[in-house]
Amino acid sequence: MVIIVTGGAGFIGSNFVFYMLKKHSNYRIVCLDKLTYAGNLSTLASVMDNPNFRFVKLDICDRAGVNQLFEEEKPDVVVNFAAESHVDRSIETPEIFLKTNILGTQVLMDACRQYGIQRYHQVSTDEVYGDLPLNRPDLFFTEETPIHTSSPYSASKAGADLLVMAYHRTYNLPVTISRCSNNYGPYHFPEKLIPLMIANALADKPLPVYGEGLNVRDWLYVEDHCRAIDLIIHKGKVGEVYNVGGHNEMKNIDIVKLICKELGKPESLIVHVEDRKGHDMRYAIDPTKIHTELGWLPETKFEEGIKKTIQWYLEHMEWWQTIISGEYRNYYEKMYGNRAEV
Ligand code: NAD
Ligand code: DAU
Repeated sequence: MVIIVTGGAGFIGSNFVFYMLKKHSNYRIVCLDKLTYAGNLSTLASVMDNPNFRFVKLDICDRAGVNQLFEEEKPDVVVNFAAESHVDRSIETPEIFLKTNILGTQVLMDACRQYGIQRYHQVSTDEVYGDLPLNRPDLFFTEETPIHTSSPYSASKAGADLLVMAYHRTYNLPVTISRCSNNYGPYHFPEKLIPLMIANALADKPLPVYGEGLNVRDWLYVEDHCRAIDLIIHKGKVGEVYNVGGHNEMKNIDIVKLICKELGKPESLIVHVEDRKGHDMRYAIDPTKIHTELGWLPETKFEEGIKKTIQWYLEHMEWWQTIISGEYRNYYEKMYGNRAEV
């Protein structure tokens, strides 16, 4: 089996590459990644010499390059992680989100049509469902929840999902989609909530909580997400959407306080800053379908996963310190330098 994994130098994609090489020692995993600011080749150092692994630096929007790779590798499966993934960046510069997340998806699916494929899997997000109110804890996102997006990021992911379903209906492309909640774990880029707070707390820098910090996210340890995708590409039904999440809802402020506690840092580092524009209040996945059809359940509890994650960041300081001392520093200054305290 040959699997093309796009975006495999990013957070979830790299964890998926490691997971698949370990779980299926007879599979060939080809990682295609543009190496944007979020892609990091050093993340893949441990598998670069694995004979079952190949890395190709390529933009998913590059049709000729993608077609050539399909000619060379004749993939059985494509798993598309490649995307612009950060909501705050999408609010600043929406265009690249539309290009990569929608048009890139189209280029990949066109290659799948042209060369034939057993499965095209689109890694999507619970953000396509919009948000839920805080005063209705009984409500959850199911696969039937209407698409209702808030940010340019989520709109671009929703656009891609619609296109994937259109390619299935119109061209009979064998597709599946997974819509997962917030992931955390090793190799999470330090612009996202959990790694940003760990890095700042370790440096005794302010911990910038948007608004009151009451927004709720449904956190999933990244390896549980990888296992879900592995199950979907092998056993999931073509043309179906699967929600992935583990009833692990936490308020942002509680996560930041927990990180302070685990690192022995004072909560006085917490600073409430101007809120994100259009900020979604609550995400919460109903994972009944993937549980009943494919037997998937999350294995890592948040209390255990957050400890493992913090430990990983303590043991891999060089990985994230290199990132925060590079181009990312300009981004951080831009995003937080002028952000008013509230
Ligand atoms: P990430 O930003 O850490 O990594 C994205 C990767 O894609 C990077 O390696 C980057 O170089 C690559 N990439 C970007 N544009 C590309 C292009 N045009 N061509 C080729 N490669 C390109 O993202 P992530 O957090 O690992 O998310 C991966 C996928 O999972 C995304 O599609 C995202 O929407 C989805 N998702 C993420 C989460 C989460 O909590 N992080 C949850 C649900 C779904
Ligand atoms: O739900 C899945 C989504 O989760 C994925 O589709 C996205 O790719 C991924 O980035 C993530 O989106 P969020 O916007 O939920 O993640 P982020 O880590 O950016 O923010 C989590 C929450 O923390 C959100 O309510 C905003 C808040 N926040 C974030 C940052 C970076 C802060 O309060 N302060 C911060 O500095």
